[in-house]
Amino acid sequence: MRSRRNGTQRQTALVTGGSGGIGLELAKVLARNGYDLVLVARKRDALEAAAGQIEGKQDVNVHVFAADLRRREAPEAIFDFLHNENIPIEILINNAGFGLGGEFAETELTRELEMIQVNIAALTHLTKLFLPPMIKAKSGRVLNVASTAAFQPGPLMAVYYASKAYVLSFSEALSEELRHSGVTVTALCPGPTRTDFATTAEVTNSRLFSLFGSADAGDVAEYGYRAMMDGTRVAIPGIKNKIVAQANRFAPRAITTKIARIAQESR
Ligand SMILES: NC(=O)c1ccc[n+]([C@@H]2O[C@H](COP(=O)([O-])OP(=O)(O)OC[C@H]3O[C@@H](n4cnc5c(N)ncnc54)[C@H](OP(=O)(O)O)[C@@H]3O)[C@@H](O)[C@H]2O)c1
Repeated sequence: MRSRRNGTQRQTALVTGGSGGIGLELAKVLARNGYDLVLVARKRDALEAAAGQIEGKQDVNVHVFAADLRRREAPEAIFDFLHNENIPIEILINNAGFGLGGEFAETELTRELEMIQVNIAALTHLTKLFLPPMIKAKSGRVLNVASTAAFQPGPLMAVYYASKAYVLSFSEALSEELRHSGVTVTALCPGPTRTDFATTAEVTNSRLFSLFGSADAGDVAEYGYRAMMDGTRVAIPGIKNKIVAQANRFAPRAITTKIARIAQESR
């Protein structure tokens, strides 16, 4: 671990998708709380802009690593870079992810397979790589960004909802496995949030995004950070989202699936 300018120990958090949206807001919260950062995303310019923004305000170091998590070798490359630079990771935030709206029979398979690679496989791979050193140190935190989409099937966005169900299930199972290890795992499950997500997923006209008001990414990040530091297993920001997620646990699956379809349809 490197030293702070005032001589105390520094810890480092790795944030995937740290150049924009919820990931950038999480990076800002971490910086305000004194963590050095490693930000990962595809576009180097956006990463450098994010790093400059954060370093201009907080006395922390921000490293950037441009990587495309659609590529299977990306997690290993990130891990090797940090290992070679002797930067241990105390906090892993698997935030990068994207969605795609539309009838499954008509959507583009390539984008859906890439989505599975980013939302599921890269998240799993990064956790596999960064967890053992945390367990060895008996200290560490993993925050996996799932979604309220994790709580029910999602017609018209079927692969995305299923990918987030994986993230939630995986995180809860891991959290239980690691109960006495000193390492915590949290699944953050935001509802609709104002970022580039809806545009990328082509769902800006869905009832979910156009009618039901979306949250501020900074508020979601603040909530997620606190939940992670408390070791909360499943963190759902916002009372409305909490109620819907809880109701989905008890309502018949056929009904929650129909309601999700109505929410995903265009106005
Ligand atoms: N916004 C919402 O309504 C909402 C709700 C629930 C859950 N979530 C989840 O929150 C997470 C963050 O989403 P967001 O809303 O902040 O979206 P966003 O504004 O689109 O930001 C996505 C971030 O991920 C990076 N990214 C995308 N594809 C990548 C790839 N292949 N490799 C590496 N980095 C990649 C992007 O940078 P580059 O483009 O430069 O790679 C960007 O930094 C996602 O997991 C999403 O599913 C979002």
